[in-house]
Amino acid sequence: MRILVTGGAGYIGSHTVVELQEAGYDVIVIDNLSNSSEKSLERVEELTGKKVPFRKIDILDREALDKLFSEEKIDACIHFAGLKAVGESVSKPWEYYENNIAGTLTLVDVMRKHGVKNIIFSSSATVYGDPAFIPITEECPKGICTNPYGWTKSMLEQILSDIQKADPEWNVVLLRYFNPIGAHKSGRIGENPNGIPNNLMPYITQVAVGKREKLTVFGNDYDTHDGTGVRDYIHVVDLAKGHVKALKKITDKSGLSIYNLGTGVGYSVLDIVKNFEEATGVKVPYEIGPRRAGDIATCYSSAKKALDELGWKAENGIKEMCADSWNWQKNNPNGYDD
Ligand code: NAD
Ligand code: WQD
Repeated sequence: MRILVTGGAGYIGSHTVVELQEAGYDVIVIDNLSNSSEKSLERVEELTGKKVPFRKIDILDREALDKLFSEEKIDACIHFAGLKAVGESVSKPWEYYENNIAGTLTLVDVMRKHGVKNIIFSSSATVYGDPAFIPITEECPKGICTNPYGWTKSMLEQILSDIQKADPEWNVVLLRYFNPIGAHKSGRIGENPNGIPNNLMPYITQVAVGKREKLTVFGNDYDTHDGTGVRDYIHVVDLAKGHVKALKKITDKSGLSIYNLGTGVGYSVLDIVKNFEEATGVKVPYEIGPRRAGDIATCYSSAKKALDELGWKAENGIKEMCADSWNWQKNNPNGYDD
């Protein structure tokens, strides 16, 4: 089975390419490299000992996609390509809707033209908004998103579901990721954010490596065990393996399937700081700041459906997530420029 991986040079995509190749799948990667480096794929090749065929293609480029599908045998697509910075999406909504929604519509149109009707889509726990209940099961109603990025995920879920409903030849798997952190155990691939990190773990590792002075904890007056926000952090390699397992829904011709990919366990910001310090022996100075607009108190998954139906569960605990994030950061303080 040959899998097209869009956005495969990025953080989750590159880890998924490793797992796909190790599981014996053929892959082909496309990426416009707007938030990544082709070097990640060279490192994937080092890790798996296999070539990673790559074409620099923007998913908005219909002609290039059409040529790709004409020239290559493709059975299914794992679709990671998209813009993902929450704050940026608030100031550049058009760019987010254009890239993520028009890009996916173009991709899906070219896929159906070529008779490829199998897609696994990177969705997000953000579609639950402020969740109606915790732990969040897949039955939890989708909520009000607090930013355009979140809406692109919510709308794309609806669009892909409607397309599948109208044409049952489509197999669509919506994977709702919780908070991916960590890196490949080798320390050769990992998350490489541009500029000041928005997310907690890359901020912590940059403080630990001395690039930033201290972490600001966004609020300690939430209704949680220590007042700081609680999230479901998941090791990126476990997340990547979830995609390999989800391919079963494509081969089984399951129509529309939706899964949370999380651990089912919530940690607060201060729990993460403590676990990071214990796992690495490195201190993370922090101060308490105001709440960040749009943040919710608590978000963690029920991971039961993915276990029951895909036989998937996260294997790595929080200490491994912290240790692997740090191993990547300290060996690659400048990301793929090292
Ligand atoms: P990433 O930015 O590292 O990877 C996305 C890749 O898509 C990048 O390599 C980028 O260059 C590429 N890309 C963007 N627009 C493109 C376009 N128009 N054409 C071709 N390539 C394009 O991000 P990631 O963390 O690996 O996220 C992968 C997917 O998972 C995204 O869709 C993201 O929204 C989703 N997701 C991420 C998280 C998270 O916290 N990292 C959580 C939930 C969902
Ligand atoms: C985690 C916790 C912050 C940074 C985001 C997106 C979501 C999904 C995953 C893509 C929160 C706190 C953070 C800092 C802090 N991405 N924090 N200081 O907000 O749960 O989810 O990434 O789909 O859509 O919204 O992740 O890592 O930004 O924050 O105190 O410098 O850490 O307040 O409680 P979040 P995060």
